[in-house]
Formats: sequence, structure tokens, C-alpha cells
Amino acid sequence: VRELDTVALIRAKRDGGTHTPAQLAELITQYALGAVPDYQMSAWLMAVCWRGLDAAETLALTEAMVATGVTLAPGEALGRRIVDKHSTGGVGDKTSLVLAPIVAACGVPVVKMSGRGLGHTGGTLDKLEAIPGMSIDLSLDDLMRCAREVGCAIAGQTADLVPADKLLYALRDVTGTVESVPLIAASIMSKKLAGGADAIVLDVKVGSGAFMRTIEEARVLADAMISIGRGAGRDVCALLTQMDRPLGRAIGNALEIREVVDVLRGEGPADLIELVHAAGAELLAMSDLGIDVDEARTRVEHAIASGAALERWHAWVRAQGGDPEAALPQAPVVHPVRAAASGWIERMDAWTLGNAAVHLGAGRLVKNAPVDHAVGIVLERVVGDRVTTGDTVALVHARDAAATAAVEQDVLAAIEIVDSPVAPAPVVLERRA
Ligand code: URA
Repeated sequence: VRELDTVALIRAKRDGGTHTPAQLAELITQYALGAVPDYQMSAWLMAVCWRGLDAAETLALTEAMVATGVTLAPGEALGRRIVDKHSTGGVGDKTSLVLAPIVAACGVPVVKMSGRGLGHTGGTLDKLEAIPGMSIDLSLDDLMRCAREVGCAIAGQTADLVPADKLLYALRDVTGTVESVPLIAASIMSKKLAGGADAIVLDVKVGSGAFMRTIEEARVLADAMISIGRGAGRDVCALLTQMDRPLGRAIGNALEIREVVDVLRGEGPADLIELVHAAGAELLAMSDLGIDVDEARTRVEHAIASGAALERWHAWVRAQGGDPEAALPQAPVVHPVRAAASGWIERMDAWTLGNAAVHLGAGRLVKNAPVDHAVGIVLERVVGDRVTTGDTVALVHARDAAATAAVEQDVLAAIEIVDSPVAPAPVVLERRA
């Protein structure tokens, strides 16, 4: 057998050539085994950034990545079709945490692997860990037990699930090769495929607080992920959703958990509720319930209104070792940020606010740092609201006054106030399938 000629693959991609599935499988397998050095993989990744991968190459790359680790089959174990939802990452995005108990309360199992915060975006695992006692390090047995007993379980990705993605992601992060549609699509979808989802609803965020800044870019990413899913025999649809402003009002781990409970109680911010209804309806319509999206939406609404989803939340938190009645971590300093002008709020920039929350300690500035679950920002006013100079527009929850002072300016800079009324854009911009 001839040895893998990595240099030839790098040259071929550099010059705009196409790889065969067998070549991609070999490259990724050898890289995961440590036989292809990081410098060659970096050169290949950069060639992909410039030249791209076609649909067949992107699918082959994804499948090669999946094959480097274990794959789960929760649907087989439960005798059910597994539906999963994935967000490409945003600010204040706690949608998965609201949806899991709703979908479970509607009789559809949720078995989900989630991630931690990335850059200015928050992560589902960090948010769950704000709940006293809650464990996200579940063994496969615990994960399935939890799914069987309460209908939903969310855990961290185990080391043996798509190890190639872990290696590639860390390399991309430091070689300027994160921003490539086929690489992002393969990274995300490899984890969804390995997790065993039969149907996947993708929430592709668009705007300043998202990795895709424009709707055109988001469409390309959504279509690339849909194409991978289809190629691997899964059902996939995508919602392109607004991320110029944060989703909901709370940014920061424990603060977001409070907002999750608000929505499950039938309260909570309108934009988050809109997305929960839309994504929840897609999930149920793709499940084995055999209902259409209108009926699915009615069931989502009923799960909240009847209290069934809130009850399921309590059972779920207990099943993963958490105490749903325990007080959540609370920051010692809560400082109001006041409007610097009168008018209507036109912009609350998601990227700026996400970064401000990270600087308070809600996210990480260095790898593997602990997060402060108590801190963050709560928007008292949102885009479209009318404000008068001096009104409280946001509350900064901080460890101390020094942290507050530094972040107050960022929050003020994120907010644009104009002289005439503003109609906020809807949350769901487009659906693709
Ligand atoms: N999220 C992922 O899991 N991978 C990427 O490449 C980007 C976002």
C-alpha cells in the first residue's frame, strides 16, 4: 500500500483540484492517528479556506471525521426517532434549554450533546452548570437512563465522539482557518451525525453576534449543512434567525436559566418565545408523532400553558443531579445602566454585549478558564422600546464595582437611540430545507 501523499493533496487543493472520498478519508484518519503533522494539516486547511470543498467533498470530510470516533444510536436504544436542534451560536441563546423539556413533555425524547461558550457566544453546558448540583458529565448509561426516565438529557460531548473535530477545531482556531463554510458545516454536522440524530433543526444565526454576518452567508452555511445531513440520510431543516441583537433579555449563565424558567412558566421575552414556538414546531413535525407543523405548534403552546413543560424541567434537572428549587448564584453588585439620550432604541449590538458579558466573567478569555455563573447583563429595554434620558436600559450583574465600571461603557456603546419609532425585525428570518 502506498503511503498517503499529504503534500500531493495540499498541492491539489491549493491549485483548485477535487479530492476523492477515499483521499479525504485517508487524510482525516491519518491525521487523527497523529500520522499527519499539524503543519501539513494547517496548510491543507488554508487551501480549503481559499479553494473550498464541493458538496461531495464536504460530505466525505464529515463522514471521515465521524469515523474517527464512536457513534451513538439513542434512537435504537429507545425504539424512537431522535430529533435534535443545533444553534450555530449566539448571545443570550438559551433556546435548547427551553425546548428540551417542552419537546419531552410532548412525548418526544431529547438526547443531546451540547458545547461550552465559544468567543463572545454562550454555551448550553455553562448555562446548565449554573444550576446547583447539575451534572453534564454523564456516562452513556446515565444519559440514556435520564432520557428514558424524564424524556430529555443534555450532556457534554465525550472525548471519543468525533476526536478529529476536537483536533481540527483547535488547529483552525490558531491558524486563521475557522471561517470556512465547508469546515464549519463539517464540524457541526459531524457531531450531530455521531450523536445519532435522525432529524435535525438547525438554527443558523445571522448578524453582528453570529459567525455569519449576512443573510447570504447564512444561506450558504445552512444549505451546506442541509446537504451533508441529506447525504447521510437524515432529515434536516434550517431556520435563519436574527442575531444583530441578543436573544431574550438575559446574557450570562444563571441569569439565562432564570429566563428559561420564565418562558416555561408562560412568561418571558417575546422574541425568545417566538423562536421556541418556531423551532419546537419544526422538531415535533420531524419526530415520529406524525403531526404537521401547525398541530406541532399547538402542542408546543399547550405544553407551556398546561405546566407540563415546567414540570418536565424540574424532573430533568433532578435527574441530572441538580436542584431546581435551589437559589441560583447571584452577583453581589447589580448596577443600572441609564439611557444617554431620549428616543427609540434602534440597536443593541449582540457582539458588543456578548463580549461585555465575557469580560464580566460569564465567558472565557483563556482556554478552560472557569466561568462566573452569577454575572452578566439583563436588558431592561429592548430594540423598538421608547426611552427617556436616565431610564434604566440594562442591569449589569458583576463581582465588584471595578468590573461594572469597565463594562458600563461597552453597554452604552452597544445601544443606539434614534429620534423616530423603530420596528424590530422578526426573529425568524427564513426557513430552508
Ligand atoms: N461550531 C462548531 O462546532 N464548529 C465550527 O467550526 C463553528 C461553530
